[in-house]
Formats: sequence, C-alpha cells, structure tokens
Amino acid sequence: MKTTLLQFEPTYLQKTNNLDRVERLLDPGGVLDADLVVLPELFATGYFFRSTDDALTVAEEARDGETTRRLHQWAHASGATFVAGLVEREGERLYNSAVVVTPRGWLGTYRKVHLYYQEKSHFQPGNTGFPVWTVTDRKGHAYRLGVMICFDWYFPESARALALGGADVIAHPSNLVRPDCPRSMPIRALENHVFTMTANRVGAETNGQESLKFIGQSTICDVHGHVLASAGPEETALVHATFEPTEARNRRLNAANDLFADRRPDVYTPLTAA
Ligand code: ACM
Repeated sequence: MKTTLLQFEPTYLQKTNNLDRVERLLDPGGVLDADLVVLPELFATGYFFRSTDDALTVAEEARDGETTRRLHQWAHASGATFVAGLVEREGERLYNSAVVVTPRGWLGTYRKVHLYYQEKSHFQPGNTGFPVWTVTDRKGHAYRLGVMICFDWYFPESARALALGGADVIAHPSNLVRPDCPRSMPIRALENHVFTMTANRVGAETNGQESLKFIGQSTICDVHGHVLASAGPEETALVHATFEPTEARNRRLNAANDLFADRRPDVYTPLTAA
C-alpha cells in the first residue's frame, strides 16, 4: 500500500489557516493517491502552549470537531485514511490526542500516554491504552493500525504494546525536540517487526520564556528497521513509501525462533511493577 507523511511548520493557534495550508500541501496536483497519510502531533494548532487557556481556544471534540471534519473531507475526497494529532477536549479535560479518520469518518482516538515536559501543565495523561484498529486500503485489503504520539517513542513498551496488540503499522504523529528519535525508531520497528511512520514538524516555538526547536527528519521504517524514506531536518516535505503491511505478521526468525512466541513474560514482572 502507498503511505505518505507530511512534515511542515504549523503556525501557533492559527487552526483554520493551518488546516487550509495542509490541504494545499497535501495534494498540490490533486492526485493524492496514498492509502494512509500521517500528519504531525497537534498539527493544526502548534505545540508549545503559553497557557492552558491558549490550548483551550483550539481544543475540540475528537469525533466531530473542526479538525476531524476537515480530515474526513480529505479522506472522503482522496480515499486515504488519515492519522493526525489534535487538542482533544472532553468536559474540562484536555488530552494530546491523535484521531484515525477513514473515508467513512472518525474511527478512533488515541490519547498520548507519556506526556513530555510542559505538556504536563495542560494535558491529562492518556487513558485509552494503546488501541489497534483494523483499516482497509483502497483495494479493500485489511491491515492493523496502531498509534502512538511523539515522546511515547522513548518508552519501548509503547511500540511493544501496539505490536502485541496486533499492529502491522504504527503511525507516530510527532513534534520531536530530542535528537535521538530518528535513530531509535528503526530499532522500535526492528525489535517489534512492524512498519513505523513518524510524521514530525519543523520550525521553532516559544512559550515566552523558552524556545523549542523541532527536528524534522520524519521517517518511514520497514519491519527490518530499514529507513524506507525520510525528510531533512528543516524542510517542508511529503515523504512517501510503498509497503505490504501484512509482512509484519511473520515474526519467525529461523526454524527455532519466533520474535513473539519466544517472549518470556513470566520473567518480565519488573516491567509491570508500579
Ligand atoms: C514531544 O513529545 N512532543 C516531545
């Protein structure tokens, strides 16, 4: 199937302008033919909120807010499934979330489990676990799609939980600031035998006191940990790769070893100790 990431620089709090810009960037020739498109974390709002009030002004309901409605328009028009980050509001609570939107509409929401730095001042830690959805490509072939967001990469348990949950592909909307993710995601892909798609942003943002610089380098990895396609650290770019997601399902390494069957959860108890 054909997959695409968009790497770009959103403008802080300019949600409608950012959505318009993404629409233009995604489909310059009117021929978006990807089966799966991944956009960055908080792609339409900016990231480094100066206050929770700022975050509230761009927050929305995940199922049917402005961003999800636009994603649905794009999915419906192009036939692609989209994974993209947004500020989710549920009652008084905010979550750093990503939605999965197919040509038929909203399919599900993942709420970021591992909050980074000042995110802890604005967002609740995610409570969705690591869900995996069955999605079809435009030929009607089913595959299993899991989602994690940015800093989740630092916790190998995230990708492991998604792979154990049956994910063939991990979509990874990001606003990366730490330098190590581009060399870590190939290993997440390798050790779990999954495809990974990290869609990062570029540019910098300040919250008034300090600035964060985002590192770009959006990357698609195959199940062997090879980089199939990537972008540079500063450019606005579409990144494309074609792969067969069901390749992720054979985790046999040789006649004696299977990556998942050989796991020993009985001796991994420290992993789940509080
Ligand atoms: C991050 O998790 N956005 C650094």
